[in-house]
Amino acid sequence: MCGIIGIVSEKQVLDRLIDGLERLEYRGYDSSGVAVIAREEIFHSKSTGKLNSLKNKLKHNLFDGCVGIGHTRWATHGEPTEINAHPHLTRNVAVVHNGIIENFAEFKNELLERGTRFNSQTDTEVIAKLVEEKISKEKCQPLEAVRLTIERLRGSFALCFIFRGLEDLLIATRKGSPLALGFGDKENFVSSDAASLSLFSKKICYLEEGDVVALTKDKVNIFDTSGKIVNRDIQILNSDPVNLNKGKFKHFMEKEIFEQPQVISQVLGFYLNASKETLSLPTLPEATEFKRIILIGCGTAFYSCLVAKYWFEKLCGLPTHAELASEFRYRSPVVNKDDLLVFVSQSGETADTIGALKYAREYSKNILAIINVEQSSMARLATWVFPTKAGPEIGVASTKAFVSQLIILKILNIKFASDLSTISKEQRSNLLIGLLELPRLYAEILSKNQNIRKLCKKFTRSNSVLYLGRDILYPIALEGALKLKEISYLHAEGYASGELKHGPIALIDKSMPVVALNPSTQVFEKTLSNLEEVKARKGKIILFTDEKGKELSKDLTKSIFQLPNCSDFLVPILYTLPLQLIAYYTALEKGTDVDQPRNLAKSVTVE
Ligand code: AGP
Repeated sequence: MCGIIGIVSEKQVLDRLIDGLERLEYRGYDSSGVAVIAREEIFHSKSTGKLNSLKNKLKHNLFDGCVGIGHTRWATHGEPTEINAHPHLTRNVAVVHNGIIENFAEFKNELLERGTRFNSQTDTEVIAKLVEEKISKEKCQPLEAVRLTIERLRGSFALCFIFRGLEDLLIATRKGSPLALGFGDKENFVSSDAASLSLFSKKICYLEEGDVVALTKDKVNIFDTSGKIVNRDIQILNSDPVNLNKGKFKHFMEKEIFEQPQVISQVLGFYLNASKETLSLPTLPEATEFKRIILIGCGTAFYSCLVAKYWFEKLCGLPTHAELASEFRYRSPVVNKDDLLVFVSQSGETADTIGALKYAREYSKNILAIINVEQSSMARLATWVFPTKAGPEIGVASTKAFVSQLIILKILNIKFASDLSTISKEQRSNLLIGLLELPRLYAEILSKNQNIRKLCKKFTRSNSVLYLGRDILYPIALEGALKLKEISYLHAEGYASGELKHGPIALIDKSMPVVALNPSTQVFEKTLSNLEEVKARKGKIILFTDEKGKELSKDLTKSIFQLPNCSDFLVPILYTLPLQLIAYYTALEKGTDVDQPRNLAKSVTVE
């Protein structure tokens, strides 16, 4: 799971390789490297840690080549050391790889028997050695060497190669992992995504499964799996390159949390005509065509699916399931022709979700993708696309993308309820108008962020934190716990408060902070009873509730944070915000790397 880039040009490429890698760092950041061909030789540099350490290293090198490749890594095979960092090199070949070669051990043994030596523990080095053998022993031309090698590979890959002595050739190929081409004037580009290419070119295309491409500065030849030269659809990008500016904020995550009132307005403004109370939506199916909805995602996106499950069953009366993408595909789930499958993803590149989508496509055409990155693989695979319009999210911990997923799912929920006539016109208007309250409510909570910050001292001194919610706030408790784990490295667990007595209550003692979400909705009293059980065991309750809930919880705890009153259907969206702030301020207190936490990547492109 990594980001790869390649440039062939009449100008030097090193600086642009680094600029491109900066945009690809969301795909992994435990090491990075570049290689260029200059004066007929391969020059390379690699470094562990963030891209900055590679940049520092390169200050003392002058790589003046006009063809080169770059890589930013999230370790799969082999620790994140310099030796395991890409590019991997032989005498004649340098290669960067995104993906996993499942049968690499088989080739490694073959090569070892033939006397080949290996430096790294990676699967990628095997590819470099196989291509090298084809070139130096079997005297194949580079294109042929690559094609013969990839024929034997199992797994997923996007690969980009350069060759000693060839200063105007770059070869790339893909299967399972995405790869886009960018077309320039006397230069051409290849990269894992369109966003990084948008720095250099607005004219792009995507390679299809098994394509191999040979790029020179003047020409791009794409070969399909049969070896025939083919054209792939050219697209003109209309978005500007991603702005990597934090503005007045210390971290992207902080910026992304605080810009949510504007983001919510932007999303609503895009789809909702407030004065006419009408929706202007992309082409979407009619709910009357379906007997069941299956919502699928990973991590935070899965939690938005879980929230939507409550919404769809309640408002539309449609049986709805929320599924973890990584589990869905391998348990042979039943998919019927009259099911609607909704895939939710910020990046649109998550390998588990793409895998589940491809599985579902074998059984049904009813595939809707709710995605933030509009130029993503999922957008190309789905029948319908409903963009979340949150703008680029850089912080690894998802905040504004989650909130925009909830809003889109709520809009879809209202549309489906109208299709099925399970709500009246008046209810529909109330729901749509209700959504417009959100930016103000978010701004109100954000203005009290310092009160939440004070609460976070309690967390840094604990080993573990419990998050409790019931009904539609159960998924929000899960999301709150995930946020805290991701960026502060503190153990946290989200639990349905009614489940506490069935086991986890054993964890409660005076050192256990318990974050409780309990506004005065239909399950208020039940949850209050569950929280009394926590209090009886001396757990430290930090309660988020509304005005009425505060009044009724006075004897429960002194740590009460009052959130604005709101309609029931807005509750999960509203109660997400303080939990984002808790995670952020706790991480700040602990001094962890908020935007690029250890072991994670923004986009998880391996299964
Ligand atoms: C969220 O904070 C996480 N970084 C992670 O769980 C993420 O939501 C998950 O990997 C799914 O990503 P996607 O939305 O890009 O598919």
